Amino acid sequence: DLLDQIKRLEELFTVPQEKLKEITDHFVKELAKGLTVEGGSIPMNPTWCMGFPDGYETGTFLALDMGGTNLRVCEINLPEEKGEFDIIQSKYRMPEELKTGNAEELWEYVADCLQQFIEYHHEGEELDELPLGFTFSYPATQDYIDHGVLQRWTKGFDIEGVEGKDVVPPFEAALKERGVPIKLTALVNDTTGTLIASAYTDTDMKIGCIFGTGCNAAYMEDCGSIPKLAHLNLDPKLPMAINCEWGAFDNEHKVLPRTPYDIIIDKESPRPGQQAFEKMIAGLYLGEIFRLVLVDLHGNPDVKIFEGQDLGKLKKAYSLDASFLSSIEEDPFENLSETQDLFQNKLGITTTKPELELIHHLTCLIGTRAARLSACGVAAICKKKSITSCHVGADGSVFNKYPHFKARGAQALREILDWTSRKDPIEILPAEDGSGVGAALISALTLKRCKEGQ
Ligand code: BG6
Ligand code: GLC
Repeated sequence: DLLDQIKRLEELFTVPQEKLKEITDHFVKELAKGLTVEGGSIPMNPTWCMGFPDGYETGTFLALDMGGTNLRVCEINLPEEKGEFDIIQSKYRMPEELKTGNAEELWEYVADCLQQFIEYHHEGEELDELPLGFTFSYPATQDYIDHGVLQRWTKGFDIEGVEGKDVVPPFEAALKERGVPIKLTALVNDTTGTLIASAYTDTDMKIGCIFGTGCNAAYMEDCGSIPKLAHLNLDPKLPMAINCEWGAFDNEHKVLPRTPYDIIIDKESPRPGQQAFEKMIAGLYLGEIFRLVLVDLHGNPDVKIFEGQDLGKLKKAYSLDASFLSSIEEDPFENLSETQDLFQNKLGITTTKPELELIHHLTCLIGTRAARLSACGVAAICKKKSITSCHVGADGSVFNKYPHFKARGAQALREILDWTSRKDPIEILPAEDGSGVGAALISALTLKRCKEGQ
């Protein structure tokens, strides 16, 4: 009877070609709606990152990357040689407690990391103020490039007193308190950073994507196509990077094929009703979807799974992350011994062969759905911009580490865009070096623009 369950799960989690197309078409409309004065679910945030680097940016910059899993500090040197850069970096853990703690602790921790970095790499040096690109990977409203009002926390963050406020003043205050010689030049989203860093070395890169703890994309729009900026009378031909914040796509639940498990994820999250798309595909949620399915099956008296076993560990919310699923997907289907060990050692559950097979199928279904839905977003931007061929720069733990994510995404793009040629005209490729370099480049571009008095 586990075979029947596999069939049922297949029906729940499979997104066929026609549905992908329907989602993509709705997505195109929603992207456009987000740019209007009235707006829509997708924020489509103007970033004030206006144009691509030309490869001749120079100088030394710091980049602070506060994303999903890590906090990274980088120092990037852009030398005279075209398109080159040197980078030194330190990674710090983003403590779990901080994500639901208070604002003061957050800014203190971030400032401490920067201070440590400077002390370590520039011990005893007299430093001029270093320009900093701050990659702050949450939705922010920006009227200037060096400010940003947090619209809402995403990715499970829930720190009081930050939403609706400019994040720059408390951040700068914490730096000042420590006497750290840094001047924030640009506040950047990770997708914008990824777009700019990718385009620095490959001019075919037109979209920057993150498939990691969260999921999002940025691309270049012309100011003339951004109705919500019309009142500023900007040159209509000027380019402006748009941070889509597409995780919020379909918050009104019109097209996405949500399962009962997706509905639970949303309800139990700190921000119900938000990030509908992201909650079906991003790394933060993949393990949780998997866990909810297994707990549900076990609770169903008609399904005989993990009979007579203590499910205490499995019942703990968010106890499994996407890397748990990655390991299962990588485990050869012939014997699934790694999966058996994982269940035994991590969850204290002894598994039978049919149970292992169901577990394996389930991970494939969840991982495949995530990759296929992600492709709808990429296809939608391309359709909106009438891009028929380009490169898409992608970063994040799911893109880089989740087995088959790239191939499944590529297959979905073929189905959505009806390609038959041997070479895919739109390719999603690994981004060069994370958004740190992008943040440095955007800082350099900003300083150049300020000097030129634009
Ligand atoms: C990193 C980028 O490589 O990927 C970050 O430098 C980005 O800016 C991150 O936020 C996303 O991946 P994850 O898996 O850490 O959310
Ligand atoms: C979430 C954030 C977004 C970020 C993405 C990837 O969707 O809201 O700003 O780009 O995660 O990190």
